[in-house]
Amino acid sequence: MATSPPRVEEGRARVHGRDLFWKRFGRPGPGGTAVVLHGGPGATHDYLVPFADLTAHGFEVLLYDQVGCGRSEVEPDVRDYTVARDVDDLDALRRSFGLERFHLLGSSYGGMLALAYALAHPEPLVTLTSVSGLASVPLTVREMRRLKGELPAPVRTTLEKYEASAQYQHPEYLAAVLEFYRRHLCRLEPWPAPVQYTLDHMSEGKYLTMNGPNEFTITGTIRDFDVTDRLREIRLPTLVTAGRFDEVTPTVARSIHDGIAGSELAVFDRSSHLAFWEERPAFFDRVGAFLRCHAIPSSTRSAGP
Ligand code: ALA
Repeated sequence: MATSPPRVEEGRARVHGRDLFWKRFGRPGPGGTAVVLHGGPGATHDYLVPFADLTAHGFEVLLYDQVGCGRSEVEPDVRDYTVARDVDDLDALRRSFGLERFHLLGSSYGGMLALAYALAHPEPLVTLTSVSGLASVPLTVREMRRLKGELPAPVRTTLEKYEASAQYQHPEYLAAVLEFYRRHLCRLEPWPAPVQYTLDHMSEGKYLTMNGPNEFTITGTIRDFDVTDRLREIRLPTLVTAGRFDEVTPTVARSIHDGIAGSELAVFDRSSHLAFWEERPAFFDRVGAFLRCHAIPSSTRSAGP
């Protein structure tokens, strides 16, 4: 599709008393604006840069660092990091951009946040896309436990050894965690620089508070989050994606697909958690085609916050 690089702008928006860093790609095209939410909770927007490819499909793309993350301001009290706060911030941010209608996409925790937003504020949404997202943390954790059980025996033994004494930062434990990540987080070798950057800049306060010490040890405040029974309330064109080897497994994706009437499911066969890197052209062909089916005239928006 179009080859010239999209226009890139960045800035900060004042949201609930904190400055949130944002980055915008392209111009409001025929399709409207696509807001893409990062995961973690506690990651940064940087690993999402491939979503700028959607500008070639006629969409403006808006990324931002959630409160406490990346280049956005932190909260002094980690108890202020909640799913409800992230939902409220997203709604305030989209208002500050004058986005009356927009497409919402979310990766991993961002997908979970997108579901929570759709349940609270369906009105402004044109479409919803869960990119390796989850509706149920308990189901996701059960599935991750199954994946851990399929690791080579020495890796399993190391994980069990250090988990028994909660030594989550021990170098041997971290090396074993990496074995899981290389299979189920990103299968590219080496990891793309923006992915590595995001992993190196996780918000310790937010990740530890909401998620836990690593991707498959979700002991933080989101551990009981489960909106599976409410998915039927979502009446939006919805696309659910996952990688075949995803740490948030295709079974989790199917649970979202089964819950949202009329939703579409796309499983990428050579990917794990980051299909938008691992199978970038195929991923954006699929997501771009889905969004184009529901394109809206460019959203009314101000010049930005
Ligand atoms: N920790 C998972 C993520 O990447 C859920 O958002």
